[in-house]
Parts: sequence; C-alpha cells; structure tokens
Amino acid sequence: MSTSIALTAVAFLLVSDLTNAERVLGAYIFQRHGDRTAKAWPPTKLTSLGYSQEYMTGSFFHDRYISANSSYKIDGISTDIITASAPQDDVIENSGVGFLQGLYPPAGSVAEETLRNGTTVEVPLNGYQLIPMSDVQSGSGSEDNSWLQSTSSCGKAIISSNNYFDSKSYESLLSDTRMLYQSLEPLVNETFSASKLSYKNAYSIWDLLHVALIHNSTTSFPSSTILNDTVIQELLVLANEHELNLAYNSSDPIRAIAGMTLAGEVLTALNETITSGGKSKLNVQFGAYAPFLSYFGLAELSPHNVNFTGIPNYASSMAWELVTDDEGTEIPATSDIRVRFLFHNGTSIEGSTQLQTYALFGQSTIELSWAQFVDETRKISIQSQDEWCQACGNSTGICASSSGAGDNSSSSSSADSCSGRGMSLGVAGVIGAMVTLGVLVGLLVLSMIVFGLRFVPKSAVAGSHRGSDASTVPVMKTTAA
Ligand SMILES: *[C@@H]1O[C@H](CO)[C@@H](O)[C@H](O)[C@H]1NC(C)=O
Ligand SMILES: *[C@@H]1O[C@H](CO)[C@@H](O)[C@H](O)[C@H]1NC(C)=O
Ligand SMILES: *[C@@H]1O[C@H](CO)[C@@H](O)[C@H](O)[C@H]1NC(C)=O
Ligand SMILES: *[C@@H]1O[C@H](CO)[C@@H](O)[C@H](O)[C@H]1NC(C)=O
Ligand SMILES: *[C@@H]1O[C@H](CO)[C@@H](O)[C@H](O)[C@H]1NC(C)=O
Ligand SMILES: *[C@@H]1O[C@H](CO)[C@@H](O)[C@H](O)[C@H]1NC(C)=O
Ligand SMILES: *[C@@H]1O[C@H](CO)[C@@H](O)[C@H](O)[C@H]1NC(C)=O
Ligand SMILES: *[C@@H]1O[C@H](CO)[C@@H](O)[C@H](O)[C@H]1NC(C)=O
Ligand SMILES: *[C@@H]1O[C@H](CO)[C@@H](O)[C@H](O)[C@H]1NC(C)=O
Ligand SMILES: *[C@@H]1O[C@H](CO)[C@@H](O)[C@H](O)[C@H]1NC(C)=O
Ligand SMILES: *[C@@H]1O[C@H](CO)[C@@H](O)[C@H](O)[C@H]1NC(C)=O
Repeated sequence: MSTSIALTAVAFLLVSDLTNAERVLGAYIFQRHGDRTAKAWPPTKLTSLGYSQEYMTGSFFHDRYISANSSYKIDGISTDIITASAPQDDVIENSGVGFLQGLYPPAGSVAEETLRNGTTVEVPLNGYQLIPMSDVQSGSGSEDNSWLQSTSSCGKAIISSNNYFDSKSYESLLSDTRMLYQSLEPLVNETFSASKLSYKNAYSIWDLLHVALIHNSTTSFPSSTILNDTVIQELLVLANEHELNLAYNSSDPIRAIAGMTLAGEVLTALNETITSGGKSKLNVQFGAYAPFLSYFGLAELSPHNVNFTGIPNYASSMAWELVTDDEGTEIPATSDIRVRFLFHNGTSIEGSTQLQTYALFGQSTIELSWAQFVDETRKISIQSQDEWCQACGNSTGICASSSGAGDNSSSSSSADSCSGRGMSLGVAGVIGAMVTLGVLVGLLVLSMIVFGLRFVPKSAVAGSHRGSDASTVPVMKTTAA
C-alpha cells in the first residue's frame, strides 16, 4: 500500500519533471481557412461554420501557446495584445480574423484605460482586441480561383503543373471517369455544362458537391441514386489525386513552389526567433490547401503516409515548434534546440483529437536537431526573392531587378519601387516569396505589448502602436515580446 503510494508519487514527480523540463521557445503555424461557399460560385465567402472553426482553432492555440498554465506555453509570450498583417482574400482574411479572436480573446477590464483627468475608458465588446491587418497585394481572391497554381505566378511551376494535363495517368483517368462525371449532370447542370463534367474539373466539381453536402438543406439534395456514399468517396479520391498532382511531383520539384516558399518562411521565422534572442515568438500564416500538399510531398510526409496525399480538411493546422530542455530563461545555444512538426486534420478543439507530431524528411525521430532541420529544409526551400525568381525563371515584374534571372548582381535600387512600403530588400524578398504562395495570407504576430494595468504606456491603446511600428517594422518582421 504505502509502496504503491510512494511509487505513484515518484511517477508523478517524474511526469511533472518531464513536462517542466521542456520549454517551447517559439512556433510557426500554417492555418487553412475555414468552411466556405463553393468556388464555382464566386465571390466565395467564409461561412458562419467556417468562422467558428477558425475561432475554435484559434482558441485551441491560445490554450496551447498562450495560456498561463499550458505546458506548451511559449516561453515569455505576452498574454495580451498582438499585431498582424494579411493580404486581401475574403475567405482567408476573415479566417484570420476569426482565428485571432480565438488566439487573443477579449482582454476584458485589462484593456481599460485611465485618462489624465481620471476618467476610465471602457473598451467596447469586452475589450475586443483590434488587431491591425495590413494588406499584402498578392493572393487576392485566390479562393475565387479554382486553380490555385495560377495564383502562384511562378512561371515554371505553372508550366510544370500544366504538364500534368499531358501525362498518361491524367489521360487515362480522364477517360476512365467520364461516365462517372457525366452521371452527375442532373445535380450540377446549373453550374457545369456537360462538356465541363470530367476529371479535368475534378476539384471544382467535388468542391461544389462537398459544399452542398454540408449546406444544402433542400430535401431533393442529394439525389441518393446519383450521389451515394461510394460515389462521394470516389469523387473525393479523384479530387485529391488531381490536386496533389498539380501541387507536387517528385521528379519535378518546382511544381511544389508553394511548399518551397512556405518551408523558407518557416525557416526564416524560426531562425529569427533564435537569432533575435526570442523577440519574435509566434508566427501565424493563413492559406489554402496547396501549400499543405506541396509541403507534405517535399517533407516526405506523403511518401510515407497515404493520408498526407489527401487535401486537408478546412481549418487544418500545421505547426513547427522550437523546443529545448535547457532550463534557463534565455534562448539556449542552437545545439540545445530541437524542432518538431505537428499537424491536425481540421478544426482543433481542446480535449478531442489534437495536433499530432509527425516525423519530417523520412527520419525515424519526431524531433530534429536545429542543425538537421536547417540542413533538410534548405534542400527543399526558397528563402529569398532572388532564389524565387531564379527557380521560377521569372525576369519581369518583381523579378526585373533580381540577380537570379539575368545573373545581374542586384543593385537594390529598383527593389524599393516595388516594395512601396519602405521594406528592406530582404523583406521584399520574403514578400516576393509570398507572391509565389499566392494563396497565402502572411500573418505575423508582431510586437506583443505587455498590456497590464500597472504598465500601460500612454500610447499602448490596442492598435495604436501600428503607426510607430509599421513604419519601421516591415510586415514580415517580429519585434519585442
Ligand atoms: C488552468 O488549467 C485548468 C485545468 O485545465 C483550467 O481549469 C484553468 O482555467 C486554467 N487556468 C488558467 C489561468 O488558464
Ligand atoms: C476627461 O477627458 C475625456 C476626454 O477628453 C472627456 O471625455 C471627459 O469628459 C473628461 N472627464 C472629466 C471629468 O473632465
Ligand atoms: C512569372 O512569369 C509568369 C509567366 O510568364 C507570369 O504569368 C507571372 O505573372 C510572373 N510572375 C511574376 C511575379 O512576375
Ligand atoms: C511527375 O510528372 C511527370 C510529368 O508530368 C509524370 O510523367 C510522372 O508520372 C509524375 N510522377 C508522379 C510520381 O506522379
Ligand atoms: C438540370 O437537370 C434537371 C434534372 O434532369 C432538369 O430538371 C433541369 O431542367 C436541368 N437544368 C438545366 C439548367 O439544364
Ligand atoms: C440545393 O440543391 C438543389 C437541388 O439539387 C439545387 O436546386 C439548389 O441550387 C441547391 N442550392 C444550393 C445553395 O446549393
Ligand atoms: C452507388 O451508385 C453507383 C452509380 O450509380 C452504383 O454503381 C453503385 O452500386 C451504388 N452503390 C451503392 C452502395 O449504392
Ligand atoms: C539565421 O539568421 C542569421 C542572422 O540573420 C543568418 O546569418 C543565418 O544565415 C540564418 N540562418 C538561416 C538558416 O536562415
Ligand atoms: C490515416 O487516417 C485514418 C483516419 O484518421 C487513421 O485511422 C489511420 O491510422 C491513418 N493512417 C496512418 C498511416 O497514419
Ligand atoms: C484529412 O481528411 C481528409 C478527408 O477525410 C482526407 O482525405 C485526408 O487524407 C486527411 N489527411 C490527413 C493527413 O490525415
Ligand atoms: C545589369 O542590368 C543592367 C540593366 O539591364 C545593365 O545595364 C547592367 O550592365 C547589368 N550589369 C551586369 C553586371 O550585367
């Protein structure tokens, strides 16, 4: 009896020691938008369901990374105010807002402000935190666009994806499935003409039906004789095959441009967390499914697990965490830092199936040393605009000044004209990389201001630091924690 109690106590100590030993130093989240209306019926909109999926997922990440008593709390992260940026796409941008509402819920009375004359100002909506999101030009309207690669604007990637339509496997699927798609005619004839009903439009057709299966409460839908479970499953598998082949091909890496630039951004951001001594801690980026599929291929997740060949569900999340066993309070030496990858297929909700770790790059261990992560990521990533221009074979537009295209060592002068926001060349490069993602919303948790009752600088009203920071701190940079 007493032995077992002692054992339990020891076990408890061990467990708590283990959880205390690890510190999360920073994280990068890539978040798919929530449930939306069909792409075939633009303008595509985030639905209330999608909004709540994002809000719940944001709350989940709040509880994981920000909550004071979470064992995954990011070391030293502010529990209050954040600043963010995002480009224009109704679905993705609104997803970002919903996510942020969950990530940083209303601050309540903490957000109250006492004026010089003693008046206390109460904040609307229980201290709802205004998070300024500046627009990034690229990626506009990508959710209205049925073919995501076309929004990547990477010349060679577009050509590569298009090659799929000339491949044997495409041709044979196209003819083998003709009957199946034609059989859907009575269901979708208001949207797709008979000539459009083929594997060529596998994703758009699946998307329309998938949206209808969630939202269409008309009793005549679906016509069960046409759309039984077998057919639904078949259409999903075909849509997955179609989109995977446009997003990734092992013998033609450039096709995965969306994943390459994402990998580069993750590396740059996590590196920044380390090199800045922890000034930037949490990065959130919103986007569509193409970067997921591209990254799954590049990071060797899909070759080892067939689940990763499928389009992730709405509100899916990928996260890369920087962790250490070092017991100090500072960022330790890189030799003491590890990286792990997590994914959850769909809305993350506290308590249910959650983020799960997966081994990257075909390794047998879940956690990679920082050095190993850098080595492996460098092989699959694009980290600068020059690299992007070179890889994509683009030499006009944002690439006109790039050394990549013409081997003309860059003289930065023309880069200023296209950034237009006083960004440094390096940052313009990252934005250039964003162009390749097209579908992405870059959302960086910028300066996290400690917003306590005892420590409220006069200017620290929610959002008011935008002016001072935005002019010096570029969109992709993170500042004080
Ligand atoms: C700490 O965790 C407990 C149990 O999960 C929860 O009930 C409580 O609200 C948390 N406290 C804070 C301050 O987050
Ligand atoms: C205090 O200042 C605010 C803002 O100028 C004003 O609205 C308010 O009436 C003032 N209160 C008093 C008691 O003077
Ligand atoms: C890159 O080149 C392709 C093909 O010429 C073009 O469609 C695309 O807009 C270019 N992208 C940029 C960012 O200039
Ligand atoms: C990669 O693309 C080429 C050309 O489009 C195609 O022949 C090949 O089958 C593809 N590979 C895979 C694994 O799909
Ligand atoms: C679509 O098909 C249904 C069922 O066959 C038919 O009643 C309807 O008139 C068709 N609509 C159009 C626009 O062709
Ligand atoms: C719902 O399904 C019915 C019957 O198939 C169709 O006529 C209607 O357009 C659909 N509405 C929506 C919003 O999907
Ligand atoms: C589903 O529909 C297809 C095509 O109409 C048919 O071949 C198949 O037998 C059906 N399956 C089930 C389980 O009803
Ligand atoms: C990390 O940042 C440092 C300092 O900016 C830079 O020298 C180094 O090349 C970066 N490493 C990676 C992997 O980006
Ligand atoms: C794939 O996903 C299914 C359903 O979530 C799960 O049961 C299965 O174990 C997964 N397969 C692998 C290899 O992880
Ligand atoms: C996520 O769920 C979708 C739909 O069920 C499936 O097709 C896909 O393979 C899943 N992805 C993973 C990584 O489990
Ligand atoms: C770089 O390009 C500019 C404009 O096309 C040209 O005038 C210059 O000579 C080039 N420099 C080099 C080193 O090729």
